[in-house]
Amino acid sequence: MMDDVLVMQGVTRDYPVGGAFAKKRTLRALRGIDLTVSRGRTLGLVGESGCGKSTLAKVLLGVEEATSGTVLVDGHPIESYGRIERAKLIQPVFQDPYSSLNPRMTVASIIGAPLQVRGEGTGDSRRKRVEEVAGEVGLPRHLIGAYPSQLSGGQRQRVAIARALIGEPKILICDEPTSALDVSVQSQILNLLHRLKQELNLTMILISHNLAVVHHLADEVAVMYLGRIVEHGPSQAIFDRAHHPYSSALLKAVLPPRPGSRLPELGLEAEFPSPLNPPSGCPFHPRCSNDDGTTCHEIDPEPSGTSHTYRCHHPDNFTQTAAQDQAPAD
Ligand SMILES: Nc1ncnc2c1ncn2[C@@H]1O[C@H](COP(=O)(O)OP(=O)(O)OP(=O)(O)O)[C@@H](O)[C@H]1O
Ligand SMILES: [Mg+2]
Repeated sequence: MMDDVLVMQGVTRDYPVGGAFAKKRTLRALRGIDLTVSRGRTLGLVGESGCGKSTLAKVLLGVEEATSGTVLVDGHPIESYGRIERAKLIQPVFQDPYSSLNPRMTVASIIGAPLQVRGEGTGDSRRKRVEEVAGEVGLPRHLIGAYPSQLSGGQRQRVAIARALIGEPKILICDEPTSALDVSVQSQILNLLHRLKQELNLTMILISHNLAVVHHLADEVAVMYLGRIVEHGPSQAIFDRAHHPYSSALLKAVLPPRPGSRLPELGLEAEFPSPLNPPSGCPFHPRCSNDDGTTCHEIDPEPSGTSHTYRCHHPDNFTQTAAQDQAPAD
């Protein structure tokens, strides 16, 4: 479809692991990702550490190549774009604004760097554009000449967002954009992303291990487990009624009764399995309360549903929301 700005079909990504002394093995970080994102939509991509979120982002950014499968950006295979063309289309915002900004460059030169590298505009027009985009992300004017060390974490992340936006990309990929920030600043950055998405009609992928972070920003949510998407649907539908038991567990874990309180454990019995040795059948069965002991151990479930899809033989059908499921605050 014309408006599908991002399409992934059967995307896998393997990493060779092991070395001189250990046996060489293959770690499949992405195991057949099918995903479509329409123009102007924000997709929240959630899942535990190690499930493959950043690998997926790296494949989209062209930092890593897919081992197999197809990635289409604006209808064309991602490999058909040159490095600069791709950077114009897709821009990242990373987790850590402390390490992602060059400490020896001023805010103005960091934000303007993408235009300078591409040789776009004159010195004057670039300066004007830097001021404009700094304003858009809410950076005070007097900080334009400052160095990263003089900025707070939130201000640094605003600089990183401005740098990503200066070339007017179509897609913004935010990989844990708030998890290195103080809790008090996190919501400011999320609010900023929310405003920018509306003002600039950005297509956005918002990656987080925390469903609560994507709650207000994402139009749709994809839940990842062990290198694949186990549930995908409109954000509200997933928050109201998750079908996959893993999404339900994530939902219960990430909406603590009091904002700022520590997140509870996932409450799943077994540990996150090794991607080097994924379980047979449904890869979630060792941790699942709906495990039937037979089918779940033998058959990997195909996706069910249409606009809201999930891979589960025995989907959860309860209708209470995670918020109703919380123990009362003490
Ligand atoms: N360069 C690499 N070489 C070998 N294995 C890798 C490499 N990069 C990632 N992996 C493995 O691929 C799997 C997915 O990693 P990835 O970083 O994509 O997870 P993630 O969901 O982003 O986790 P986190 O929430 O901790 O950021 C993990 O098992 C990880 O150890
Ligand atoms: Mg990651």
